[in-house]
Amino acid sequence: MVRPRILQQIVIHKYLSKLVLKLAIKIRIQYLRIVIKILVKMNIYSKLIAFVFALAIVSCGDGKKEKKEEKFQYEQEAAAPAKAASEQKSQNDVLITADDMMKFSTKEIRVKSGEKVTITLKHTGKLDVKVMGHNLVILKKGADLIAFATAAVDAADNEYIPEGTDDVLAHTELIGGGETTTIEFEAPEPGTYDFLCSFPGHFAAMQGKFIVE
Ligand code: CU
Repeated sequence: MVRPRILQQIVIHKYLSKLVLKLAIKIRIQYLRIVIKILVKMNIYSKLIAFVFALAIVSCGDGKKEKKEEKFQYEQEAAAPAKAASEQKSQNDVLITADDMMKFSTKEIRVKSGEKVTITLKHTGKLDVKVMGHNLVILKKGADLIAFATAAVDAADNEYIPEGTDDVLAHTELIGGGETTTIEFEAPEPGTYDFLCSFPGHFAAMQGKFIVE
């Protein structure tokens, strides 16, 4: 006949071993080995201490993991809105976002010809218009994008739209972090047009195709 005290110890032993193993899976393998070695060598009361010790390690491990996950989540959140916002509400009603990372949410805008086009540009960043200003400029067919962007650098007083230019089909105003602007214009004849942000240095990363179907 087994004495109740021993029976109790066996049950506790099994329970603790399982629990420690489960927890140890979560932590690095060297910790697992140490915990098992300690368990083998120690009696039941020492196991309790080992368990608390293991729990402390796991808590530390989890803490680090949480921090990592938090960071990851933050990165995801930072990246996600731009993607989600790039979708078009309807064919000719377009929402495009731009952020502090010098990026438009899309590189392609598709609209129908012969109808009104509404483009809303939303700056999802935090930086000031003087540091990270964005606009959306659609160039006429045949306009030279690089030549236009180069000329735009000297047009700070005109929101980086060269005065008297004949290259622009439509453009929004220049906005900073947290701001939104909308333009409306008639869709031009079918074809592919270039669009860009004309803020100095942005056009290389911030450009795309405006396609009229
Ligand atoms: Cu820009």
